[in-house]
Amino acid sequence: MSVEASLTEHYTHGGLEAALLAALTAMGRDVEHLSPADLMGADEFHVGGAAATKELAARLDLKPGMKLLDLGSGLGGPARHLAGLGCEVTGIDLTPEYVAVAESLTRRMGMSAQVSFRQANADRLEFPDGSFDGVTLLHVGMNVPDKAGMFAAIHKVLKPGGFFAIYDVMQVAAGEIEFPMPWSPGPASSFVETPDAYRAALAAAGFTIAAEQDRGDFARAFFAAQRARIAEGGPPPISLGLVLGMTGPKKIANLAGMIARGVLAPYEIIARRG
Ligand SMILES: C[S@@+](CC[C@H](N)C(=O)[O-])C[C@H]1O[C@@H](n2cnc3c(N)ncnc32)[C@H](O)[C@@H]1O
Repeated sequence: MSVEASLTEHYTHGGLEAALLAALTAMGRDVEHLSPADLMGADEFHVGGAAATKELAARLDLKPGMKLLDLGSGLGGPARHLAGLGCEVTGIDLTPEYVAVAESLTRRMGMSAQVSFRQANADRLEFPDGSFDGVTLLHVGMNVPDKAGMFAAIHKVLKPGGFFAIYDVMQVAAGEIEFPMPWSPGPASSFVETPDAYRAALAAAGFTIAAEQDRGDFARAFFAAQRARIAEGGPPPISLGLVLGMTGPKKIANLAGMIARGVLAPYEIIARRG
């Protein structure tokens, strides 16, 4: 099976929209008129959820009207956050079910004029050169074997001076990865790299690094707060667990454990096209 096919299979839930809408209805929400808060972070598929997106966005010097591309847009939470700041966002994702759910949630939040989604592979960007002011990549690089190739394609679709913001899980110390992980069932579709490898691939594609940050401490605090909340009030009615399905707790425990041991960490790099 190709990496692309195995990733699509890994991420496909099969009844995700119905499951999300049923949970929202049970919470008493009007599913035709949702707000981002209603999803309680279930639409932010990365460590730190909405808080991580908000903090990354605050570092990007965003201006209303900017055209952004969110690669591997998942259920669309990050793209909608950026659109809420006045940007016009295009999301692309490999998994057809995620694209359909992202479109549905965006329509139900009344944001379809600011955010659109399409199914595509991030390594084949079919946009004219210089189309975007910024590109975001949140927890997607772990699924991409040829990062140098993808970064070169991103460089082309950015305007000169445009930003490329990465928030990926990276290997920050030696240690074998325990699977399943939220992004992959096993090593055949997992391509976790070190910050050094990202820096080299960015430089080869012509990017200049403007800022970078190991977010391990933030992640450890996030998981600790999540555990404390669950111990006190039980599991939330809607969460990423619903998206991850039966194997969700094992995937999250493996990732949290490897971040606790300091082997993996979510890591931000903000680069610019020269
Ligand atoms: C861990 S999720 C992150 C989703 C989203 N960025 C977020 O933070 O909420 C990874 C996403 O990347 C998508 N993906 C993986 N490889 C991809 C590729 N080569 N091209 C486009 N999307 C990809 C998956 O379908 C999935 O939606």
